[in-house]
Amino acid sequence: MTSPRSGQRCRVVVLISGGGSNLAALLAACDDPGYGVEVVAVGADRPSAAGLDLAGERGIPTFVERVGDHATREGWDAALTAAVAAHRPDLVVSAGFLKLVGAEFLAAFPGRYLNTHNSLLPAFPGMTAPADALAYGVKVAGATLFVVDAGVDTGPIIAQTTVPVLDDDDVEVLTERIKQAERAQLVDVVGRMAREGWSVADRRVRIGG
Ligand code: GRF
Repeated sequence: MTSPRSGQRCRVVVLISGGGSNLAALLAACDDPGYGVEVVAVGADRPSAAGLDLAGERGIPTFVERVGDHATREGWDAALTAAVAAHRPDLVVSAGFLKLVGAEFLAAFPGRYLNTHNSLLPAFPGMTAPADALAYGVKVAGATLFVVDAGVDTGPIIAQTTVPVLDDDDVEVLTERIKQAERAQLVDVVGRMAREGWSVADRRVRIGG
């Protein structure tokens, strides 16, 4: 059981690669002290990640670790681990972070590194989930928040949210419908984890005692 910090907000580091609409939703929620979360840093794997500006505007520290700046993938993983650990997070949230972390990172934040994915896992892992869902012809799509393990989108599931797939959807429309639900889920569930604590046993994730 990872218990909530008594009298203190949960320290969260967010990792991004792009626009950061999930990050923006989390930051907006943090404006309410009762939400229980403080985003203490935002990291990216590329300096062009637009979400870095959202953090900068709020005076939140940012950092960038590019894979290409390191001789090995393990070297990058070690540098990313150190950059995140420097902010002493209780929770690390991957929100559109387009890199798989390595063994050192996972060992540093066991049960505390979350990812949000835009499909109902275990269906449609990987980078093109909404397009894959549309091509398959499913009638329900959605998003999954999970605890990251060594696989690709395979970790224990914390929460899932669904949206309908409509007859005239294209990839863009479905992607945006999923993202709206995904953001609401992320804000809701990260807040509950911060306030109530959580546990991971085998593949079962439980929020609260
Ligand atoms: C999310 O839909 C996430 O599931 C996917 O990338 C998107 C990130 O969006 N991997 P944003 O950068 O938070 O707007």
